[in-house]
Amino acid sequence: MSQVEIDRAVEEILVDEETLRRRVEELGEEISLDYEGRDLLLVGVLKGAVFFMADLMRELAVSCEIDFMAISSYGAAADSSGVVRILKDLDINIKGRDVLIVEDIIDSGLTLSYLMRNLGAREPASLEVCALLVKHGRRETEVPVKYVGFEIPNRYVIGYGLDFAERYRNLPHVAVMAAELLEESG
Ligand code: IMP
Ligand code: MG
Repeated sequence: MSQVEIDRAVEEILVDEETLRRRVEELGEEISLDYEGRDLLLVGVLKGAVFFMADLMRELAVSCEIDFMAISSYGAAADSSGVVRILKDLDINIKGRDVLIVEDIIDSGLTLSYLMRNLGAREPASLEVCALLVKHGRRETEVPVKYVGFEIPNRYVIGYGLDFAERYRNLPHVAVMAAELLEESG
């Protein structure tokens, strides 16, 4: 990706690299305290959460494993319909495990609420959520998010794992996407 392309896509940097790093460190400390003496399983939601999860895991002082799920909402609508299909399920049996779902961003909360019900039915010992970003005032369903990195305004963001049509995940910061790009794509 050229610098010109990046400059055109980014309207404003919302969370810079250093702020991300410090917050991930704090979350790591908090989670390490809460799970002291236990065996943690981080469940990442592909693909956006991969970047955050890799950094978070390196800040954990408790023993932990990772596994991944890939899900997709039915239909082509940009807004989540809440009907979710599992594209890739977990490899690990989570019954009796302490599970922490790691998400990149929570918007309507519909994806997460499906995931909580689905994983909850597998009888883990505990089930919590850690989300890097939570959008203000967008919740259509109440989901209990125990660990939140940042609350952000209701704008479309890219970077640090977050994509627009699979692009821009590799930006080191979280940025508001330029409105003209959103409009171009309809
Ligand atoms: P929800 O079901 O509406 O909470 O949608 C959550 C999913 O939508 C996230 O896991 C992201 O994949 C995607 N998403 C929501 N808002 C954004 C955004 O601002 N940028 C990039 N992806 C987003
Ligand atoms: Mg996504």
